[in-house]
Amino acid sequence: MVKNIAVLVSGGGSNFENLALKSAEAGFEIKILIADSPDAYAVKRAEKLNIPHIIIDRSKYSAKKEFETAVTEAVSNFNIDYIVLAGFMRILSAEFINFYKNRIINIHPSLLPSFKGRNGIEDAYNYGVKVTGVTVHFVDAGIDTGKIIAQTAVIIEEDETLLSLEEKIHQAEYELYPAALKKVLDGGV
Ligand code: GRF
Repeated sequence: MVKNIAVLVSGGGSNFENLALKSAEAGFEIKILIADSPDAYAVKRAEKLNIPHIIIDRSKYSAKKEFETAVTEAVSNFNIDYIVLAGFMRILSAEFINFYKNRIINIHPSLLPSFKGRNGIEDAYNYGVKVTGVTVHFVDAGIDTGKIIAQTAVIIEEDETLLSLEEKIHQAEYELYPAALKKVLDGGV
């Protein structure tokens, strides 16, 4: 049966768009896109794709709890099976994560547990590792620490630039994320 997901974003939303385009073959439907900022380009993509979307502007909420309550309310309007983070740059509270225990999934642009945090691609590049990659994982109360669902390795070539590496990582993400979600939704994880 097709599963319902909500996608949370903060920015460009290329992963969101890729998931939307591959949703039918991966067995899910994006019921709602939630952006935490009116500037998130992902909202434009949702408009183009005709996917319901809502902006819950984090800067309008003084406390994280109120912001998360608004997100929970938006999600509760749909029969959502999984919350999928795609470039969502906020740290969720333990309460929120527990509420959706084992039902929040994230993509991170490094081979976790290496290079956690905001700049996974650049940190790996600057460190000089020869192999980095992409990780899809469940979200737990730590930062980029939850159970790993799937990973892809990306080789850093001798003449690699940060820009070319970013492009390779994103291409790897576009393959891995829908496949990893399908695996979860099929009950394989
Ligand atoms: C991706 O690299 C993802 O791994 C990270 O944030 C980036 C989002 O890119 N969590 P986009 O907004 O999907 O283009």
